[in-house]
Amino acid sequence: MLNTSSLSGKSPIKFQFKTFEKLPVKIWDDSRAASLHVAKSIALAIRQKQQDGEKIVLGLATGSSPIKLYQELVNMHRNEGLSFQNVITFNLDEYYPMPKEAPQSYWRFMHEHLFNHVDIPPENIHIPDGTIPMEKVSEYCQWYEKQIDLAGGIDIQVLGIGRTGHIGFNEPGSWETSLTRMVRLDGLTRRDAIKDFIYEEAVPTRAITMGIGSIMKARTIYLLAWGQHKADIIKEAVEGPVSAQVPASFLQKHNNVRVILDRAAAESLTRTTAPWLCGMVNWTEDLACQAVVWAAQKTGKPILKLTNEDYNEHGLSELMLEENGAYDLNIKIFNRLQHTITGWPGGKAGSDDSTRPERANPARKRCIIFSPHPDDDVISMGGTFMRLVEQKHDVHVAYQTSGNIAVHDYDARRYVEFQREYMASQGMLSENLDNHYQMILDFLAAKKTGQADIPEVRAIKGLIRRGEARAGARYSGIDDDHIHFLDMPFYETGHVHKGDLTDADIDLVANLLNSVKPHQVYAAGDLADPHGTHRVCLEAILAAFEKLKGEAWMQDCWLWLYRGAWHEFPIHEIDMAVPMSPDQVARKQKAIFMHQSQKDRPPFPGEDDREFWQRAKDRNKATAELYRQLGLAEYEAMEAFARWRFEWQKVR
Ligand code: F6R
Repeated sequence: MLNTSSLSGKSPIKFQFKTFEKLPVKIWDDSRAASLHVAKSIALAIRQKQQDGEKIVLGLATGSSPIKLYQELVNMHRNEGLSFQNVITFNLDEYYPMPKEAPQSYWRFMHEHLFNHVDIPPENIHIPDGTIPMEKVSEYCQWYEKQIDLAGGIDIQVLGIGRTGHIGFNEPGSWETSLTRMVRLDGLTRRDAIKDFIYEEAVPTRAITMGIGSIMKARTIYLLAWGQHKADIIKEAVEGPVSAQVPASFLQKHNNVRVILDRAAAESLTRTTAPWLCGMVNWTEDLACQAVVWAAQKTGKPILKLTNEDYNEHGLSELMLEENGAYDLNIKIFNRLQHTITGWPGGKAGSDDSTRPERANPARKRCIIFSPHPDDDVISMGGTFMRLVEQKHDVHVAYQTSGNIAVHDYDARRYVEFQREYMASQGMLSENLDNHYQMILDFLAAKKTGQADIPEVRAIKGLIRRGEARAGARYSGIDDDHIHFLDMPFYETGHVHKGDLTDADIDLVANLLNSVKPHQVYAAGDLADPHGTHRVCLEAILAAFEKLKGEAWMQDCWLWLYRGAWHEFPIHEIDMAVPMSPDQVARKQKAIFMHQSQKDRPPFPGEDDREFWQRAKDRNKATAELYRQLGLAEYEAMEAFARWRFEWQKVR
């Protein structure tokens, strides 16, 4: 069950962390708050050194993790006069080979995100040089290492962590005393870098990186990680053994490290997955549910077969005392899960709804399905979408972004050629139009890796996805006047990295809500999206709800969250599970197939090689299997939802 406080992290649970974490961890509600905290610490250190008339040496990382930290430092420079005159920096790494001006170079990244906006003397900046001839690299690396020593060593080192466990580009197998050197990049690291290089073949195979030994010499280290996709590797680095297989685990041997996480990156830590193992907890019903599901999975037993001994042997004796033994607890949690299952996602008219996830009335509900990208509706909730329509609810779908960045250039070219040939075949191809098409084709032919598309190409790519979205929504049973394209402006940068959410985005959502006045809103609550678009889209919806909360109809407007293609909600967070028959699974698959530009291999597949329909199918089957293992009914597949409870709404 989700509410404003549970996702914003104001958990009522009190923990004592004793045994599992071998590194000091601090968890923040979100990466913005966490980054501000680190920025303040760094600013304090810079100022202290300034007072003492000394220089300070910062070790810096690139990638998505430190972006907000750099934004905060720039803000402090602009608004609070924080000077970088006494700051010397050493960057961890650079791709090799890599010209400085290339869009993917770390040199460029650092200048765009930090150095161009502060008063650091250029001679104080050190970034490994990706243009050094191969035969000079070894000598260069020794020189780089020496410069760090000559500067007095690194005072504060900022790190991100790769999904391989790398810090800098020290991939698994790196040794503890390694210094600055040339390395080969791991396959997974290269796949993660596709977002910047567009094609895997364009991602360099090598890099120059400071070593583990160079990093370990820093006096203070901050390791930053945001998002669910980092959760598993964070658990290994923080709770696992020290091992070259997880290079970040070497940090356990450092005496002054802080691991700074957002909620999502902390999701796999034992304090989150099984807090009762870490110390005293407040046994809320949600937590009891989590514990029962956990115990059932640990023992491989269905819930109703769990015994007092099972609980006691798995560190849950406290819960037994609280709950009067296994028998009552099992039945309570079994019923709770049982009540999440419904074939009537819009509520079942004329029936007792006291234990159903949705209200029976009104019998015909107005619903809006918000889909961050043009295919999330069918990927994440295609089965439920079709059921809502079949059960005669008034269903609208709103595509929040154009999704244009995820269309291959060759598809855009195909459509331009199609248009040009069609117009020519009808005798309608004017010289102007012909030139226009040629200009687009010339741009595509000359386009460099990572180069942003011109607006005309973005428009074509967006229209390709529009057509696919329309086809998917029509296949799911709704009419064209119920299909809305919001094209939220924050997305339209032409790059993977998006702009900030503004009122213009929020108003688009609020206006649609206000015109439909829905009883149900479905939205992506998937915080694992590697590019953050889902997050921003959810923020826009929450902001729109906040804006409209004074309207009477908002009291009856329930927000249901689904998760995107990557991860499902943990069972104890599911409020509604909608089962699907094999036939319904096949129909959902067909709706996903309408998104042809995303088939085979979209430009940004994320961490998973499977196609979207496979991910969706596997995930929905896995949820059904989990319910079956817990002793509930066996279904082919299930889509899951969590209800977001607003403090200002009457709770049911
Ligand atoms: C970058 C670096 C890498 C990144 C890591 C995480 O200078 O050294 O170790 O910190 O790959 O990257 P993001 O932050 O993009 O997830």
